[in-house]
Amino acid sequence: MEAKTELTAWQGDITTLALDAIVNAANASLLGGGGVDGAIHRAAGPELLTECRTLNGCRVGEAKLTAGYQLPARHVIHTVGPIWQGGAQGEAELLAACYRNSLALAARHGLASIAFPAISCGVYGYPATEASDIAVGTVRQWLAQEPHTLRRVLLVAFDDAMADRYRRLLAG
Ligand code: APR
Repeated sequence: MEAKTELTAWQGDITTLALDAIVNAANASLLGGGGVDGAIHRAAGPELLTECRTLNGCRVGEAKLTAGYQLPARHVIHTVGPIWQGGAQGEAELLAACYRNSLALAARHGLASIAFPAISCGVYGYPATEASDIAVGTVRQWLAQEPHTLRRVLLVAFDDAMADRYRRLLAG
């Protein structure tokens, strides 16, 4: 019987988590930015950008893995969320792909723990309610259907409202 994977909400700064991987809400260049991308690059140090330069960017919905360098996390999984354009440009499917492809990449590397920020919910303007539904639904379905080594998956909220949303959805 496969041991259950713990899927929980956690509120705070994702760069402080000592897990196998933390996910970065990056942009297609993978050359850093503001928000959680900026926080992760600041905490990881300049070697992260050096490795990112070798990756030749990342398409929306895709995910790429690097080391964590000075972060407590062993790896960073960089994914690029969709920019919200009103909901009729395939944003929901692209956001779901960010979660699925990040989980698949973690599984390919045999990782046991991973934390996601609220991808696209900041600069990219994705409405938090829809985005949290997609995050919980996509992660739950993937964990139930795919072979993997993940034992802990954290959905990281940076504010109370998002933490409450995740907790309500996870209790459901
Ligand atoms: N820890 C956890 N969550 C964080 C942190 C942090 N240190 N900093 C910000 N967040 C949260 C934000 O509150 C938001 O809910 O991460 C979520 C994603 O917001 P952004 O970081 O703005 O990412 P996103 O909306 O996906 O936009 C990506 O912003 O920083 C640039 O280079 C990045 O161009 C890309 C774009």
